[in-house]
Amino acid sequence: MANYKYGFIGAGRMATALACGLVEAKLATPAEIVASDPSEAGRAAFAEQVAGCTVETNNTKVSTSSATVVLAVKPQAMTAVLAGLGETAANGPLFVSIAAGVTLEKLEAGLGGDARVVRVMPNTPCLVGRGASGYAGGSRATADDLKRVADLLEAVGIALELPEHLLDAVTGLSGSGPAFVYTMIEALSDGGVLAGLPRNVAHQLAVQTVLGAAQMVATTGQHPAELRDAVTSPGGTTIAGLEALEQGGMRAAVVAAVKAATSRSRELGQQ
Ligand SMILES: NC(=O)c1ccc[n+]([C@@H]2O[C@H](COP(=O)([O-])OP(=O)(O)OC[C@H]3O[C@@H](n4cnc5c(N)ncnc54)[C@H](OP(=O)(O)O)[C@@H]3O)[C@@H](O)[C@H]2O)c1
Repeated sequence: MANYKYGFIGAGRMATALACGLVEAKLATPAEIVASDPSEAGRAAFAEQVAGCTVETNNTKVSTSSATVVLAVKPQAMTAVLAGLGETAANGPLFVSIAAGVTLEKLEAGLGGDARVVRVMPNTPCLVGRGASGYAGGSRATADDLKRVADLLEAVGIALELPEHLLDAVTGLSGSGPAFVYTMIEALSDGGVLAGLPRNVAHQLAVQTVLGAAQMVATTGQHPAELRDAVTSPGGTTIAGLEALEQGGMRAAVVAAVKAATSRSRELGQQ
């Protein structure tokens, strides 16, 4: 019987966000969470955010005492971390990796034994409870394991189960997408400044416009083109702006950005 419901190996930003999500969603109490990290500052920050949890320096203690073990270290650290856990892998915890680009094959081989593994591609908005994640089960992951991972990820956003080969596309869209949208927000704000608004006013309006537009699509369920048509009056201001966007190739540039990020994810995964 595991002492903890959830163990985190690596107590950094993503681990903290997921643990806080679990507590907020009442999927675990802080007393049911443990995390290990070599960095004292990392452990202290995690313990402060998840007040009442246990922190550790020993990864093996986490993996042998938790029902679900979230591998939340950087991809470069993963091989060494897995090698250190090798002997404990067959003891039964579900391993959930959130490391970008580390394949199920590598995770299963690194853990050895009969480890049950799920690979997740999350994104940074998990840190504010608005994440968009894709996940894929390994060869021994059960339906219950996938449900457990969906619950964990849905505590900090939305989560979609996909075949593993699509996780590169998830990386290209929702993994890298926040950076594309930040660029859009910055450009909207620049446009406002060019049109005469003070920077702080332009920034606030740009942020709220992107939040509001996304919320409109999510809440109404209408196609973005339908919503766009509804605000585009004949000979009006919006159609003048849309013409400029088409001339600038905005739509093609965004499609190409997702495609380029997906290809890069594939390349990095093969290294
Ligand atoms: N942030 C995102 O939006 C995002 C999105 C998608 C995927 N991911 C993935 O999520 C993972 C974590 O990202 P993050 O942003 O949370 O990184 P992070 O804040 O740097 O957290 C990683 C933590 O792991 C610790 N660590 C390093 N070696 C370790 C070891 N051997 N055993 C235990 N802990 C160890 C690090 O300590 P030190 O600081 O002392 O090295 C650090 O505290 C990465 O694999 C990343 O690819 C993140």
